[in-house]
Amino acid sequence: MSSTASSSPDQAPVPALTVLGIETSCDETAAAVVRREPDGTTTILSDVIRSQVAEHEAFGGVVPEIAARAHIALLDRQIEQALDKAGLTIEDIDAVAATAGPGLIGGVIVGLMTAKAIAMAAGKPLVAVNHLEGHALTARLTDALSFPYLLLLVSGGHTQFLLVEGVGRYRRLGSTIDDALGEAFDKTAKLLQLGFPGGPAVERAAASGDPARFRLPRPMLDRPGLELSFAGLKTAVRNAAHGAAPLRPQDVSDLCAGFQQAVADVIGEKSRRALAAFAEAHPEAEPVLVVAGGVAANAAIRERLACVSETAGARLVAPPHRLCTDNAAMIAWAGIERLVEAAHRGESVDDGAVPPRPRWPLDDRAEPVFGSGRKGAKA
Ligand code: KG4
Ligand code: ZN
Repeated sequence: MSSTASSSPDQAPVPALTVLGIETSCDETAAAVVRREPDGTTTILSDVIRSQVAEHEAFGGVVPEIAARAHIALLDRQIEQALDKAGLTIEDIDAVAATAGPGLIGGVIVGLMTAKAIAMAAGKPLVAVNHLEGHALTARLTDALSFPYLLLLVSGGHTQFLLVEGVGRYRRLGSTIDDALGEAFDKTAKLLQLGFPGGPAVERAAASGDPARFRLPRPMLDRPGLELSFAGLKTAVRNAAHGAAPLRPQDVSDLCAGFQQAVADVIGEKSRRALAAFAEAHPEAEPVLVVAGGVAANAAIRERLACVSETAGARLVAPPHRLCTDNAAMIAWAGIERLVEAAHRGESVDDGAVPPRPRWPLDDRAEPVFGSGRKGAKA
């Protein structure tokens, strides 16, 4: 895949950059090589992902200790494969980029320490990447977007609206105050015994359900602003399920359809408000809403976002599913963006001393949001 990300015409060209990316912050062990030409053209030379779904399935969710051990067992081979597929050796790489947080700390330590060791042994710079920055910048890799744009990140660990104004310039407009949306899908699936990961299973069951049968709440819709909450909705599903027990398949489908519709209503209305906030902050810019994260695969949510975007006169951009969910190409790309940005300032990047962090908000100015999920960082 190839695209050309924009850079200002008055900026001196940066030499070609080939970066190895490493991602281990949750349950994907991933490595990738991405290259950027001096004219801004980018190519994903390799992108290998090993999901640990099988390791965690029996537990109905990601078990941090199992994830960390699996990353140790899998990562070296993934890196080898990424280099092989790119037809390169470590000598051909200009820098190593790795997720340094936020995420499950055991996994983050495995990935970051491996990256530091490789970078040090090969004499290459290390770029410590914020996982959220990886998600936030992916649309520039896939769709060559220019800044600014609005990002809705909806995954198993994060749910937030971000104003993306430049590399390293993010403003959090709102986020969940409790569960991430993917987490709410997973917990709903677990409750209804639909298996893991729950999102696709809930979506499948919802297809044959009646969304109006159970009256479920639309959390935070009655309040102004862009904060979100899904814990109460999940509890409402549990109560409704207990009330209808023993559950027949049609009851499960109706509960899933009701849950999904409630979520779509909330995400739709909050996205409408977020687009209004974007237009206020950047009246001169083309309004663009980027959606990323595993939940972006949900057709009902996507449809609602398409509808809201059209009404607001905004363009909806959804990177391909493989690059929307956790992957290492986005980490390599974020590394490249950081290196290019530094080069424009006549600086270099040396993150060898950056520690692994379970929590690492992209927007340090944002009010802290309380609560913690499986990735440890909602803020
Ligand atoms: O971004 P992702 O692959 O991993 C992280 O959590 O970072 O997102 C995984 C989440 C899971 O919670 C999964 O249930 C949810 O995305 N998901 C979905 C769908 N596909 C995946 N949620 C709703 N509908 C889907 N079709
Ligand atoms: Zn993620």
